[in-house]
Amino acid sequence: MRQYRDYKAVFAGIPKPFAYVDLDLLAENIRQIAARAGGKRIRIASKSLRCVDLMKRIMNADNLFQGVMCYSPLEALYLADRGFDDLLIGYPACEPEQLARIGRYAKEGKQMTLMVDSAAHVELIEAAAEREGVCIPVCIDIDMSLDVPGLHFGVWRSPLRSLEAVADLMRLIAASKRVRLEGIMDYEAQIAGVGDRMPGQRLKNTVVHWLKRRSAREVRERRAHAVQLAGELGQPLRFVNGGGTGSLQTTALEPAVTEVTAGSGFYAPALFDYYRDFRLLPAAGYAVEIVRRPRYDLYTCAGGGYIASGSAGREKLPSPYLPAGAELLPLEGAGEVQTPVRYRGDEPLELGDPIFMRHAKAGELCERFDRLLLVSQGRIVGEARTYRGDGQCFL
Ligand SMILES: Cc1ncc(COP(=O)(O)O)c(C=O)c1O
Repeated sequence: MRQYRDYKAVFAGIPKPFAYVDLDLLAENIRQIAARAGGKRIRIASKSLRCVDLMKRIMNADNLFQGVMCYSPLEALYLADRGFDDLLIGYPACEPEQLARIGRYAKEGKQMTLMVDSAAHVELIEAAAEREGVCIPVCIDIDMSLDVPGLHFGVWRSPLRSLEAVADLMRLIAASKRVRLEGIMDYEAQIAGVGDRMPGQRLKNTVVHWLKRRSAREVRERRAHAVQLAGELGQPLRFVNGGGTGSLQTTALEPAVTEVTAGSGFYAPALFDYYRDFRLLPAAGYAVEIVRRPRYDLYTCAGGGYIASGSAGREKLPSPYLPAGAELLPLEGAGEVQTPVRYRGDEPLELGDPIFMRHAKAGELCERFDRLLLVSQGRIVGEARTYRGDGQCFL
């Protein structure tokens, strides 16, 4: 594990705030993710990385890493220009001009796949493809949530909840000259994105763990049926995508799955500390500067309030990381311009010193910083521009 003193020495003289990636810990996370994928191909989730250099570094680390799951058509086009191929746009897009641009790319032979979950999506893509005189590949997003009495365990994304609905959409695509089915994606968010080792929540953890196991069995069946259906309807699939960092070990075991997705696990933000089945290393973080000391044990820092998206609970706050034992105050959290941190440990802290923090989620940190300082073997070995540093802001 990293020590406060070591990081403080490594970054001495660097103006704060700054963000960093510890390449040695990143390499360990890459190895672990590759091992958990059990030989299946891994598509990297760009939303959780948002840095071209690091995405390339991951792709080059192991042959298992192939293809990107992007989060918007403009982002996919941007990555295609930077040499990435096999770009799956993981979420539906409706803007006609953006769809047309994807069509023009398809014409050049690049593999870029749009996501659909309804006839309306297919019709929009078909209209754009018609105008461009191309055939655009699509992937069907099938809902994998689990409904138990009183609880919808999962996310509200795709309306495709029954095999009949999937069959109808597959038939519609099969009948189209301008849209071609390439793959199926079913993301089991309730397994991949929900921790089951949350501090102070023993009972909830037990229930979540049980729900996850039950859900995994159902997901496996539903996915297998959807793949079988595609075969029966004469729709060969180039890929069947599932999972995320939090579910690699269960998703990869399914025979129907040809590839898994992973993104967050590379940086391993704080929310990924709380899963029973794996332990990743905190590879990314940021440092804020102590600028005031309102009480002997309180160190107020400049900025630092980078709250993660999603339902707005305490777990979406960033966490003080080093020095170990530092914590946020419940009534102030992490602020836009000031973040008080309580620390009663032995490390002497002065004004101007750093407090190292970790974001709750992975990629959003890169929307706050132009660059990531790259650290290896106890020194800064380079830096990598984030999407923001490239002047890009997609969502
Ligand atoms: C469609 C889809 N697949 C996979 C993932 C998993 O990504 P990560 O590994 O960053 O948790 C996500 C995350 O939200 C997603 O939306």
